[in-house]
Amino acid sequence: MSDDFLWFEGIPFPNTGLQTEILRKVHDEFVIKDEDVVIVTYPKSGTNWLIEILCLIHSKGDPKWVQSVSIWERSPWVESDIGYKMLSEKEGPRLISSHLPSHLFPKSAFTSKAKIIYLLRNPRDVLVSGYFFWKQITFVKKPKSWEQYFEWFCQGHVIYGSWFDHIHGWMSMRGKENFLLLSYEELKKDTRRNVEKICQFLGKTLEPEELNLILKNSSFQAMRENRMSNYSLLRVYSVVDNPQLLRKGISGDWKNHLTVAQSEAFDKLFQEKMADLPRELFPWE
Ligand code: A3P
Repeated sequence: MSDDFLWFEGIPFPNTGLQTEILRKVHDEFVIKDEDVVIVTYPKSGTNWLIEILCLIHSKGDPKWVQSVSIWERSPWVESDIGYKMLSEKEGPRLISSHLPSHLFPKSAFTSKAKIIYLLRNPRDVLVSGYFFWKQITFVKKPKSWEQYFEWFCQGHVIYGSWFDHIHGWMSMRGKENFLLLSYEELKKDTRRNVEKICQFLGKTLEPEELNLILKNSSFQAMRENRMSNYSLLRVYSVVDNPQLLRKGISGDWKNHLTVAQSEAFDKLFQEKMADLPRELFPWE
């Protein structure tokens, strides 16, 4: 069980599966190619849901691939030791995942035509989701209590650092034609419309029945039952027998967990930190 983070450039990272040497190479040397599709999120924003949707768009809704290959092999994490190696050896268009803040992301991306999809989520739900998920996992430093985790999150003392900084960094890509911004809340509210939006961004056309299959096979229930996507394969890195990524899959669960005082403190922090960005970026506010 780990009792600290891996620190890189002042940001805390999981201390297993990542190394400072690789993180440096990822930023300086890794080549993002024009034909790549990149999924970027702050952890617990619905990353794996988006990966599943992209994989199913690729297979036109056929679930064979998502049911036979683990989600982290289908769309490797560029910052992880294994992902970096897999991606470096992979030919052709790649699906790439990352939680890196923009200033640590491969610098080659910012001059490439690769399509980048950034998914954001209400940070209050991100906070709650992370609290419950990291509890199950060995390689993330554990808080003593919910109260402590809340403080850590507000201060950015959690893996991948501050949510507020992550958003600010990536929002500088807004308006670029190879950058698509989505939110968990809108994806949840109207999955079909958002899948269509992704297809349009990627230049893909789908038959109506293919779209239906994508929706069916990427649903909360289907993903929860798919061991290649539900993180039960992470058992070796877990303190529980059956680690589960798909906890509730709803918007607004924070209301069941934040106290009134926490909620007020978070509102204030949000106003302070995000005042310079347009409100319409945050559909939950
Ligand atoms: P909750 O913990 O709130 O349930 P990430 O993939 O970035 O780690 O995000 C995990 C969150 O996305 C979890 O949120 C999980 O339930 C949710 N999620 C994953 N797949 C989903 C799906 N198909 N539909 C809705 N939510 C999903």
